Amino acid sequence: MDLTHRPRRLRQDGVRGLVSETSLEASDLIAPVFVDATTEERVPIESMPGHERVPIDEAVARVDTILETGVEAVMLFGIPESKDPEGTRAWADDGVVQEATRRITAETDAYVITDVCLCEYTDHGHCGPLEARLRGENGHGHGPICDHDPTTTVDNDATLEALDRIVVSHAAAGADMVAPSGMMDGMVDAIRQALDREGYEHVPIMSYAAKYESAFYGPFRDAADGAPSFGNRRHYQMDPANAREALREVRLDAQQGADVMMIKPALPYLDIVSAVRREFDHPVAAYNVSGEYAMLHAAAEKGWLDLEAVAHESLLSIKRAGADLILTYFAEDVARRLD
Ligand code: PBG
Repeated sequence: MDLTHRPRRLRQDGVRGLVSETSLEASDLIAPVFVDATTEERVPIESMPGHERVPIDEAVARVDTILETGVEAVMLFGIPESKDPEGTRAWADDGVVQEATRRITAETDAYVITDVCLCEYTDHGHCGPLEARLRGENGHGHGPICDHDPTTTVDNDATLEALDRIVVSHAAAGADMVAPSGMMDGMVDAIRQALDREGYEHVPIMSYAAKYESAFYGPFRDAADGAPSFGNRRHYQMDPANAREALREVRLDAQQGADVMMIKPALPYLDIVSAVRREFDHPVAAYNVSGEYAMLHAAAEKGWLDLEAVAHESLLSIKRAGADLILTYFAEDVARRLD
């Protein structure tokens, strides 16, 4: 055969590494950590093998094991000791994330990012206080209207005020970066102003800019006890059918001063990661969510997939699509093997 072009020449050992376009490093990864104020012992999360909710007293130890793998950043989620309609424990100075942040920043070198949302703190499980018409007589959002209108709506502007208090309390506790995940309109602008007003202009914002209303969050909602008690999140999280809308969301967050743009979930939305990478200069983050993690584990448990291989391939693909950083429950496992 007289073939001029033989791409296989560059796939031979010795040269493959030289021509490889994408690489994965521990410093690209952020490990999610669940801190639980309701427990004194570590509680394994069944649908997320290898992950646990840790009590506040174990938060530093948990982060130390992550740092040993080479991963340098963590994302903190909190499970509060009590919940109410407004989610007031989300901005308490002695709240679970605030306390964990203080200890982790005092005792480790981890870069601490805090998730800023209300769904783990409200008793109805939505990402902010409910609109007045949905609050019901007891103020808990379980009024009769909700039964007829399960796609309930969060009060956007009242939520912004709560987010302001949350970010200021996180920054005061020492958070290195804040990550608002509630998909409220104007949330980046509101928290940028609140941080700047309180002297935290150095704290960057990683916005969950394009966060979809995804069924892939199921295991997380068990882990963080943040499932809505009725209805769903489709009036604030994005419709999976939409791609142009994601660019619009990212553009708005860019105008409002977001420093890092996050896309979530990751693998089913790589077209969005790639489009945002092409259109914007900001660092792009992708959240490889709980369902993406759980499904690979479940298949591996059945012996149908090689877990190490598919985990590595998944993260590599997310980077190839254009992500600079990846939030992933595989962070420790993958980083350990990169080492
Ligand atoms: C809170 C939040 C969620 C996730 C991250 N932050 C849950 C949700 O929106 O329902 C999901 C993470 C995952 O599935 O790994 N707003």
